Amino acid sequence: MRSLIDILELDVTEIKELIDKANDIIANPVKYSEKCRGKKLATLFFEPSTRTRLSFEAAMYELGGNVLGFSEAQSSSAAKGESIADTAKTTSCYADIIAMRHPKEGAPLVAAMNASIPVINAGDGGHNHPTQTLTDLLTIQREKGRLNNLTVGFCGDLKFGRTVHSLINALSRYENIKFVLVSPEELKLPSYVKETLKKNNLEYVQTTDLDSVMPELDILYMTRVQRERFFNEEDYLRLKDSYILRPERLNTAKADLAIMHPLPRVNEISVEIDSDPRACYFKQVLNGKYIRMALILKLLEVE
Ligand code: CP
Repeated sequence: MRSLIDILELDVTEIKELIDKANDIIANPVKYSEKCRGKKLATLFFEPSTRTRLSFEAAMYELGGNVLGFSEAQSSSAAKGESIADTAKTTSCYADIIAMRHPKEGAPLVAAMNASIPVINAGDGGHNHPTQTLTDLLTIQREKGRLNNLTVGFCGDLKFGRTVHSLINALSRYENIKFVLVSPEELKLPSYVKETLKKNNLEYVQTTDLDSVMPELDILYMTRVQRERFFNEEDYLRLKDSYILRPERLNTAKADLAIMHPLPRVNEISVEIDSDPRACYFKQVLNGKYIRMALILKLLEVE
């Protein structure tokens, strides 16, 4: 039995297999519509979500399975003080696989250590979000046709952005990726993630100036400044609009730039960009369902 807590638990061969499977599901959805008949996915979400929870649920329904769970801690016995370990043991009695989101880093790992069914980390605090990373990798592969030889710009909250941390870790294993890290000083990439880049001798630059690096980017991965991660509202208000992507900002960008964002967005990409053919963030949303279908099949060992 296998869980997925950190994207690095999957090697590049397994990631390629998942991407290939997702592409096959996209091309042949009917072939997969009964694969999980009789199986149940439990979505245990202790923190708000739209895309991750709904895409996991849609994924299981499209595989012919069923879904149970909760979408906020207050409607579970966590509100009465139940531990993550006991919640995981209990859910193992009712379901075949768990997708868990939690505001505390490490909570899905604790669940995996106590469950007797696979556990998927659906986002833990500012730490990791491996299924968003699989979504991002599928999107990059589909949009650019490759996962190597890319200059990737990450912009916004690189300190607390778990999707950024997971994607940097994942991309660090592919050839000739240049990382361009754009953030305010206060929201720079944490040193423990930067260590991955240094350890692997990967090329990276850090800057506060998005416009100066725009012309070289193949991918621009925008992120939200996350109010929920700040201890101080004043700091959030000062930093929240550090980068707003408006159409004129793309004047110097490549014609085939892929603009990505894990969403939700607040203000950092203006809605006029949505109709630009370079905007990929709603394609990412859809890709998230297909890659989660592929992952559920893998962890349930369904052929
Ligand atoms: N990308 C993402 O994790 O979105 P949600 O918070 O809506 O699940």
